[in-house]
Amino acid sequence: MSKLERASFGSKLGVILATAGSAVGLGNIWRFPYMTGQNGGAVFIVIYIFCVLLLGIPCMISEFIIGRHGQSNTARAFRIMSGGTVWSLIGYMGVLTGFLISCYYAVVSGWCLEYVWASFLGHLHGDPEYIKTYFVTFSQDPVKPAFWTLIILLATYLIIENGVRDGIERASKLMMPTLFILLLVIVGASCMLPEAEKGLEFLFKPDISKVNGDVFLSALGQSFYSMSIAMGCICTYASYFSKSTNLPNSAMQIGVIDFFVALLAGLLIFPAAFSVGVNPDSGPSLIFITLPNVFQNAFGDPTLGYIVSVLFYILLSMAALTSLISLHEVSTAFLQEEIGTTRKRAAIGVTVACMVIGVVCSLSMGAWSNVKLFGMTIFDTFDFVTGQLFLPLVGFLTCIFLGWFVPHKIVKDEFTNMGTLRNGTLFHFYLLLVKYVCPICILFIFLHQFGLI
Ligand code: PHE
Repeated sequence: MSKLERASFGSKLGVILATAGSAVGLGNIWRFPYMTGQNGGAVFIVIYIFCVLLLGIPCMISEFIIGRHGQSNTARAFRIMSGGTVWSLIGYMGVLTGFLISCYYAVVSGWCLEYVWASFLGHLHGDPEYIKTYFVTFSQDPVKPAFWTLIILLATYLIIENGVRDGIERASKLMMPTLFILLLVIVGASCMLPEAEKGLEFLFKPDISKVNGDVFLSALGQSFYSMSIAMGCICTYASYFSKSTNLPNSAMQIGVIDFFVALLAGLLIFPAAFSVGVNPDSGPSLIFITLPNVFQNAFGDPTLGYIVSVLFYILLSMAALTSLISLHEVSTAFLQEEIGTTRKRAAIGVTVACMVIGVVCSLSMGAWSNVKLFGMTIFDTFDFVTGQLFLPLVGFLTCIFLGWFVPHKIVKDEFTNMGTLRNGTLFHFYLLLVKYVCPICILFIFLHQFGLI
């Protein structure tokens, strides 16, 4: 496809829903609630809001600027913006990060599908020990998780293959509103439970005594992850924006949607957990072990518990799918444009590669758990290399590149849509954040996670 006929999103709503689809994912419904649980509830939320405003949104705008300016895949967009200098490497790193994450994100998304199926068949019913064994046995099984990984990647392929407008945009317009409705319905059910107010109090009453450096850094990391920053997704989607899309406004809207979905997920989980006396700080096992227990006990009527449980896992799978689509698109657009092949072939190539690596990651949870890279299982190595090394590095370098090396006129032209938006004052504030605040904060997260500060 020539540059002139390059695909684009068809409407403003499409832009917002597709990008919000990338941002809203397991990070909102799974990671945010358990991090809130572990970091003192409401205080964490307040700090998180500041992180979204001061770090997440400016970084998102930066990727928007690079992607829309380049009108091409992330690697080429960085190459165009940097005039082919060494800074182009950030784009390649972004693509690689996106690709690696898609492989293991597909595994966890596959688990969500298994839980839709298991809850539908009524298999998630039993005492807490049974529910725990169910998850452990399932995640270590050599066949089942791999099977679901393949299914979710196939679904992703079928959407991507249809193109930007008919595939990604249409799927987002269908799934995102459904996701909001499901979320609101389950939140309503959860908040009507006896003692639900304890959960609400936990969420909304800040406990200042819990604030320490770790809480700040966890909130920073979470805002980054939740907004899909530094993995090529935002940059790739921005290349499908039109020249009239208001970049700062769109980033703000997506940041707000992403935050509210995370907050609603908290409103869904905490009241239900407190109503059955379960402590919501159990960490990553929260949605696969704690919640099935909560669902079957919280709603006095077993049918209601059953319905809520099925709906919840459908919601989770849809959130995961829209994020996986954006991760897949990073590599698909890259292959299509850099190798010069058709979209379909590029999408098949990416899907097959993700399937192979995804199955390996999945097996590394069970049958191959003794295969270690750098002392970690393959799954954990992927998580570590992408989340703890590449993600902060790409984010940091993107800010330095845009804030210090790209001529400000180019950045300003994109930010203000060639001066038509009259948001020049906001631009100066944005520049201040991207030049100083964001890189320093990212550097802190990076050093802290290795115990260096
Ligand atoms: N933002 C997604 C979430 O909250 C995760 C993700 C990261 C998706 C990077 C795409 C790219 O789950």
